[in-house]
Amino acid sequence: MTDAIDPRALRRAFGAFATGVTISTTLDAGGQPVGFTANSFSSVSLDPPLLLVCLAETASSYPAFRDAGRFAVNVLGASQRGLSTQFATRGADKFAGVAWRAVETGAPVLDGSIAWFDCRTHALVPAGDHVILIGRVVAFGAEDRPPLGYVRGGYIAFGAGGEAFNAHAGGVRVSAVVERRREALLRRDGEGLRLPSAAAFGPATNPDSLLGALAQAEIRAELPFVFASYDQGDVHHVVYRGAAPGVADPAEGWVFAPFEALPLHAMPAHEARILSLYATERAAHAYGRYVGDAVTWAGGPPPTG
Ligand SMILES: Cc1cc2nc3c(=O)[nH]c(=O)nc-3n(C[C@H](O)[C@H](O)[C@H](O)COP(=O)(O)O)c2cc1C
Repeated sequence: MTDAIDPRALRRAFGAFATGVTISTTLDAGGQPVGFTANSFSSVSLDPPLLLVCLAETASSYPAFRDAGRFAVNVLGASQRGLSTQFATRGADKFAGVAWRAVETGAPVLDGSIAWFDCRTHALVPAGDHVILIGRVVAFGAEDRPPLGYVRGGYIAFGAGGEAFNAHAGGVRVSAVVERRREALLRRDGEGLRLPSAAAFGPATNPDSLLGALAQAEIRAELPFVFASYDQGDVHHVVYRGAAPGVADPAEGWVFAPFEALPLHAMPAHEARILSLYATERAAHAYGRYVGDAVTWAGGPPPTG
């Protein structure tokens, strides 16, 4: 490792590149399916049809991918976040509950993928602590459904932006967990404290929207991620997450509550559940599973958990 390069900082910087999420699969010497979650996928060439994915030498499936001569790349859809985690968890039974089929090479093509590429191994290029698997596509398929996205160690829902949700205004409540340092933004109302919320996401010029309500309180928040989407009675709730790093003291009626001492008892039960889930995942993002997996991927030490 070059002394000047801090691997943690490098991992963070790599993480700024937003990607989709794939699961690469093959069969091991005993014919058992193996696979791993990967965002290092790239198309390479149309003629001949080539793609690549980078695999850590420490992955349990490494010998299988090295020896099999075939593999498939499955592009995950927005609803397949759980599958991504399953295939990224060291030691997990990756194919538990997973339906798949063999197409041309026999490498597993997963049901529900929004695109898949069945490949013969074209080249294996050693590259540091990873190997670049270059595949020649022999069969593929694709569907027009929204993809799962990944950036800065978290999943994102492309195409689930404000416009899509505005179309359902009336039955939809849009809220947000807005972070500043180690605090979450809350709004006081008659009955207690609530997440900032509105009937629509934006735009900031509409005071009845979430961005508009925040703008009126002079809170410039960036809300690039959808954190949760759930039904409560006949109302559909969409919870964004993001940050308002520049805000000093919020306007009258708004408070920043520290994550270590969230006033959950003063909040509606479903919002309290969401916010405590957020607090747990926030801690896990910093110290848990996703970072552990990304450590392997970015060339740091293997995860300990
Ligand atoms: C979103 C995401 C992307 C990942 N991308 C890669 C990757 O491109 N290459 C890789 O080797 N590991 C990547 N990983 C980590 C592997 O999925 C993980 O280390 C591996 O599946 C661990 O299980 P195993 O050692 O039992 O195979 C990624 C993990 C996540 C959550």
